[in-house]
Amino acid sequence: MEVKIFNTQDVQDFLRVASGLEQEGGNPRVKQIIHRVLSDLYKAIEDLNITSDEYWAGVAYLNQLGANQEAGLLSPGLGFDHYLDMRMDAEDAALGIENATPRTIEGPLYVAGAPESVGYARMDDGSDPNGHTLILHGTIFDADGKPLPNAKVEIWHANTKGFYSHFDPTGEQQAFNMRRSIITDENGQYRVRTILPAGYGCPPEGPTQQLLNQLGRHGNRPAHIHYFVSADGHRKLTTQINVAGDPYTYDDFAYATREGLVVDAVEHTDPEAIKANDVEGPFAEMVFDLKLTRLVDGVDNQVVDRPRLAV
Ligand SMILES: [Fe+2]
Repeated sequence: MEVKIFNTQDVQDFLRVASGLEQEGGNPRVKQIIHRVLSDLYKAIEDLNITSDEYWAGVAYLNQLGANQEAGLLSPGLGFDHYLDMRMDAEDAALGIENATPRTIEGPLYVAGAPESVGYARMDDGSDPNGHTLILHGTIFDADGKPLPNAKVEIWHANTKGFYSHFDPTGEQQAFNMRRSIITDENGQYRVRTILPAGYGCPPEGPTQQLLNQLGRHGNRPAHIHYFVSADGHRKLTTQINVAGDPYTYDDFAYATREGLVVDAVEHTDPEAIKANDVEGPFAEMVFDLKLTRLVDGVDNQVVDRPRLAV
């Protein structure tokens, strides 16, 4: 049977009480958000006639999500991360700010405190038996399009199994493997030697994949490399590049792929190139330049503060 009670005074009063709006104290912003979200959920229960069984399945799901530490994985899977990017893009457009290098989602796997070096870093510890050497380099440009020395380029990516150091269930990776901070040299350039990452999927038995299955969606990401770039007088840029040619490049469950962020990995086999790059054999090369935007009225109006692991 379908009943309609949402719009009654009783329910509307109850929502205000449950959100603390009739109480002194607490946090007005939290009250405002909870009141709105509760109202939308109550209304959804009524409009969709959500049953008690369905509701309690949802509660159990949230418990499972937290127990598995997967809230930060479900978030991009349901598009929230990309939606926040779309909102920041729209705010920038309204301010007339052009992002020559598009932003894209951070994801949940950054770790603060990676080793720092100037100009160049070796990122991998050489222990991945399937690792194919990658030379990744580029120039950081300031808001006027000039090469920017002394910018901080933070790069992190997965190994060939799709696992990140500090989050590797096999325990095989050392701390900060494939995580480095490179300070650009006097020509604004950064260069790293690492290995080509693999794409990865959500834990197959986890709650994120469980929900994606219900939506008829896969939980795979293409091979990608994360960046934070920061420099004096500029806004911090959060982005990723995708390795071109991955079957999931344009079918990313986390919706991070964007035009301008798909980069070819060019294979080099000739001995000259191998020698010039000081590597042991054939290697891939990716070139990616990034352009920063200047502060808005002296502040980074788009910087994101979120809980992050720091070691
Ligand atoms: Fe990632």
